[in-house]
Amino acid sequence: MKEFITKTVEETRKWAQDFAKTLKAPCVVALHGDLGMGKSEIARTIIQTLRGKDTVVPSPTFTIVQNYDGISHFDLYRIEDKSELTEIGLPYAIQNDITLIEWPDIAADILPENTIHIYLSGDGDKRRLVIK
Ligand SMILES: Nc1ncnc2c1ncn2[C@@H]1O[C@H](COP(=O)(O)OP(=O)(O)O)[C@@H](O)[C@H]1O
Ligand SMILES: [Mg+2]
Repeated sequence: MKEFITKTVEETRKWAQDFAKTLKAPCVVALHGDLGMGKSEIARTIIQTLRGKDTVVPSPTFTIVQNYDGISHFDLYRIEDKSELTEIGLPYAIQNDITLIEWPDIAADILPENTIHIYLSGDGDKRRLVIK
């Protein structure tokens, strides 16, 4: 387990840039934490670090998944049943891509052993990042 405290969103982005450079497909990053804790900020920074800083990274809240040439960014908030995970291509992404998952709990059964779990908490502009 590793822990980082950030005091601004810029500090979180800086951490995520360094973290992004350690990722190599296939791998899974599960982003845990309540609304507004920074899951999308971290996913966006990872994608922009690896695919170019001008890459447009919308939140996949409504589309469920966005693909960036070998990076798949999922938001499972609206998934109600595990059977939907195959339809949205999660098992395929897990085997092939750098897979970033917001609200990953419903996929717990199919996440590989070596999934990197990031737990976000905090308030105001302060965040605690726990990596397991
Ligand atoms: N230290 C920090 N780390 C990450 N985000 C922060 C921090 N301080 C403030 N924020 C703000 O919190 C919000 C996080 O939003 P977002 O990444 O969309 O959250 P989530 O995807 O977890 O719902 C952003 O508006 C961001 O600017
Ligand atoms: Mg989000």
